Amino acid sequence: MKRQEILQMKSEAITLIERASSKDAIFALRKKYLGRKSAFNQTLKGLKNLSQEERKVLGSLANAVKREIDAALLCAEASVSVDFEKERIDITIQGKKIACGHLHPLTIVERDIESIFTAMGFEIADGPEVETEFYNFDALNIPEDHASRDMQDTFWLTQKGKKGENLLLRTHTYSVQVRYMEKHTPPFRIIIPGRIFRHEATDAFHEHTFNQFEALMVGDAVTVGNFKYIAEQFFSQFFKKDVSVRLRPSYFPFTEPSFEFDISCTVCGGKKCRACGQTGWLEVGGAGMVHQNVFVSSGYPRDRYQGFAWGFGIERLAMMKYKIDDIRLFHSGD
Ligand code: FA5
Repeated sequence: MKRQEILQMKSEAITLIERASSKDAIFALRKKYLGRKSAFNQTLKGLKNLSQEERKVLGSLANAVKREIDAALLCAEASVSVDFEKERIDITIQGKKIACGHLHPLTIVERDIESIFTAMGFEIADGPEVETEFYNFDALNIPEDHASRDMQDTFWLTQKGKKGENLLLRTHTYSVQVRYMEKHTPPFRIIIPGRIFRHEATDAFHEHTFNQFEALMVGDAVTVGNFKYIAEQFFSQFFKKDVSVRLRPSYFPFTEPSFEFDISCTVCGGKKCRACGQTGWLEVGGAGMVHQNVFVSSGYPRDRYQGFAWGFGIERLAMMKYKIDDIRLFHSGD
């Protein structure tokens, strides 16, 4: 075999190897070009009949071409053994985020509440958790000797306030109302989310430390109708379904008239099921029209303004939304 023939065979082999698209085809080419009976082997065997000069030149050329064909075959073998469809890398796909936990359900619910109310023009107000007897009770039409103080069992502090006042852990977010009204003139609408404390035994529905959110809207002519409409808007958006509201007469010293507040069952929609104790309704909180004595405590003239207030437990809402059956899970270890 002459030099020209060796080079011709190399280019033919390389072309065929590049076109080969299956393992079998490549195997056949390996056999054809590098196998025992291949043309190369014949060439190498035939070298012994050549002159020493020719043997040297053609021998090293044949060996170099053999290595090149072998390299091309290895490369082709590697490429057909990869399943490109399966192993395709899409460099436009976003990286995987490392899971690092999520917000606490109470935080999610509190943020939901805040965003629904701020979209309806409400502002968010805040107040201290360690409160004076005045803002938690006296200013709210709950005098010291009145039985209504017993409605909320209280953690009293032994320490006194700066002016010798009795201090306590606030028992409801209503305590922030007079603080806010002392500094603002109606009309206004606010919500007051926050942590509160009750000296109570715990069970699946009761905690000693839990969260409420208060809503307060005061103006010249705010009515129970405004309250009911806003409540229905809020609960429908919060539960992402149509929710109706029912008011039942009740008693709170700081509102007149006062209501217990129910929403149509978020599980059965009012058709009566186990979740609502076959009543079609779920109890969510207390509400009413702000008592004129509370306005007077805040420095407003009697009978000048009217407004509604409500106070709902945030844990209880989260339990309804996420079907959590024990309130103590919110604050336990995991
Ligand atoms: C009050 O706290 C009133 N301040 C509510 C109010 C506001 C009435 C404005 C009128 C006008 P009550 O003690 O019922 O009311 O508590 C209100 C809500 O807090 C309850 O409906 C419930 O959702 C939640 N709640 C009460 N006690 C507990 C408890 N121990 N654990 C968890 N949630 C509770």
